[in-house]
Amino acid sequence: MKPTLLALLPAAVVAAATFTGCSTFSSTKPSMSIEDIMNEGFKGKGSMAARIGDNTASQADKMRMVYLTQQLALNKAPKGDAADWELKTAKLNRAAIAIQDKLPDSLEVWRAAVDCKACHSVHKPD
Ligand code: HEC
Repeated sequence: MKPTLLALLPAAVVAAATFTGCSTFSSTKPSMSIEDIMNEGFKGKGSMAARIGDNTASQADKMRMVYLTQQLALNKAPKGDAADWELKTAKLNRAAIAIQDKLPDSLEVWRAAVDCKACHSVHKPD
């Protein structure tokens, strides 16, 4: 893993290590594909991402989204600039953590970070 990703993702790395019960670097390999993450958390009108955005998500949804966005950040961009991918996915993961932790303004931060088109237009293969 590159140092830039480590610098951007301290919270994600720590939380990922917690989830897997392991703190070695091998735990930072994603265990979910981007497709699986998108289908479980983002796809469709009533998705977990949408419920978080309109403030109807359960706490379990929010905790799951922290995990899904960590997994997203651990994946490599299938297309586009790697540094931009790291930035966007780190922002999204931090926003999910803020939502889970009920931080002030987290809803606005989440809505800005979860911009499907901004990410797909540069990182989603045709
Ligand atoms: C930080 C980047 C990012 C954000 C934000 C994002 N996506 Fe994606 N999404 C991707 C990438 C990358 C792919 C392509 C995965 C591949 O084909 O390898 C993808 C693929 C998908 C797919 C296709 C999955 C499949 O089975 O191939 C759907 C559906 C999807 N996204 C929905 C959404 C929706 C809806 C949102 C917003 C609520 C969203 N995504 C936000 C990065 C993102």
